[in-house]
Amino acid sequence: MATNSKLIIGIIGAGRLGTAIARQSLKAGHRVNISNSRGPQSLELMLGVLLPGAVAMTVNDVAQKSDIIILAMPLNKYSALDPEWLAGKIVIDAMNYWPPTEGRIPEFMNEQVTSSQYLQQHFDRARIVKTLNHVAYNEIEEHSLPPAHPQRRAIALAGDDDAAKKQAEQFIDTIGFDTIDLGDLQEGSKFQPDTKLFNARLTKAEIEQIVR
Ligand SMILES: NC(=O)c1ccc[n+]([C@@H]2O[C@H](COP(=O)([O-])OP(=O)(O)OC[C@H]3O[C@@H](n4cnc5c(N)ncnc54)[C@H](OP(=O)(O)O)[C@@H]3O)[C@@H](O)[C@H]2O)c1
Repeated sequence: MATNSKLIIGIIGAGRLGTAIARQSLKAGHRVNISNSRGPQSLELMLGVLLPGAVAMTVNDVAQKSDIIILAMPLNKYSALDPEWLAGKIVIDAMNYWPPTEGRIPEFMNEQVTSSQYLQQHFDRARIVKTLNHVAYNEIEEHSLPPAHPQRRAIALAGDDDAAKKQAEQFIDTIGFDTIDLGDLQEGSKFQPDTKLFNARLTKAEIEQIVR
């Protein structure tokens, strides 16, 4: 683990959301490892221009060499990841099941099981935390504010591993947001697409009012 509360953030998916989180993480002083589906060479030019300091790696290397791994790839590509790569790792699931963009995915159509619960079953030894999924990529930078700012936006979390959630909360604070822990992974249903929390700019107190 990196020292002095600075983390090594590993991002799987270098598109809109992945690069926005990467930029904000670098600004907060963290190290960033990032990957896409086409291999590190395909990222070099983009990183040099848009994300200087971020390191392009294979997906497996990102998983092995980072403190927190953030899944920021299309959900329908999840099975490209070997569960072994994520075993024992804190994994932020920032993905959404959103049929209008990615089509219907049979294993995510059971409304009794949230997409993150399904991923927890699949990546059974990963320490999954669902969060960052309900913020639009451009708002990761635009809405970030220092701690204690009265308008500071809050980001919801859900997960079955309390220590993993705590680490995710500390990271999210460093990139400019309050956090609100809504409970176990089942509670992720409260901030999936088509909920009041999804893409809404809300403070922690406002989220508490909606969900409690
Ligand atoms: N966009 C948003 O505002 C936003 C906000 C919150 C949550 N999300 C969620 O975040 C996820 C990604 O959305 P996005 O808008 O960032 O998508 P995007 O711009 O299309 O980027 C997707 C990225 O994932 C990579 N990828 C695809 N398959 C991969 C694999 N097998 N291994 C590693 N990387 C892979 C792609 O790399 P290649 O180009 O090499 O295939 C690309 O860099 C979705 O689940 C979405 O619901 C998005």
